[in-house]
Amino acid sequence: MQFFIDTANLDEIREAASWGILDGCTTNPSLIAREGRDFAETIYEICEIVQGPVSAEVVAQDSEGMLREARLLRQIHEHVVIKVPLIPEGIKTCKVLASEGTPVNVTLCFSVNQAVIAAKAGATYISPFIGRIDDTGHDGLALLQDIVSVYDNYFFDTKVLAASIRHSQHMLEAMRIGSHVATLPFKIMKQMFGHPLTDKGNAGFLADWETVGEDVETTARRFLDRRNG
Ligand code: G3P
Repeated sequence: MQFFIDTANLDEIREAASWGILDGCTTNPSLIAREGRDFAETIYEICEIVQGPVSAEVVAQDSEGMLREARLLRQIHEHVVIKVPLIPEGIKTCKVLASEGTPVNVTLCFSVNQAVIAAKAGATYISPFIGRIDDTGHDGLALLQDIVSVYDNYFFDTKVLAASIRHSQHMLEAMRIGSHVATLPFKIMKQMFGHPLTDKGNAGFLADWETVGEDVETTARRFLDRRNG
């Protein structure tokens, strides 16, 4: 399971990258707009931090325009993945880019039929929006399961990238289903660390260690100095 971070906030990306478990990043026009910074500069900086796939979305609505944007965005950094919306022009663009060896993330996926269309167009990633489906009163995780199963039926290489993840239970279920990738808001990535018994146990170990009356470095250095002469 690959962990991508779903943000364009450089501080969040830097902190998540410092944990050593970050595989990539996804952005979209809304996330970029929220930061109020230059799009291309931001994408370059994210790529430098993440050193893995970074999705940058085109906004043109026709294939010619999408291809022009995509080819420029790809020149920003080798880690740029082109994100296109799941509309006919986006699929046409995906097919051309894929045939040129450009990785494509097809976004705004809300059905199995759409996911199969993206796979047939050579998408590297398909992004079903779990939370937004839940918002409509339907079952986002059921869709994720269906896409993973149908892709398995036909041995599609397209990776399923669970997007619009809203809480850590979404994440747990995405892992159970076998989604290849999940893209997480920073807050949820942090929540994944959390367990009250970890905090309680850690506090207990520290309290007991106080009674030892020495720090680890001092005792380890004394031992090593004695042994090494
Ligand atoms: O990056 C696309 C997706 O993750 C958006 O999530 O929370 O805006 O539905 P959300």
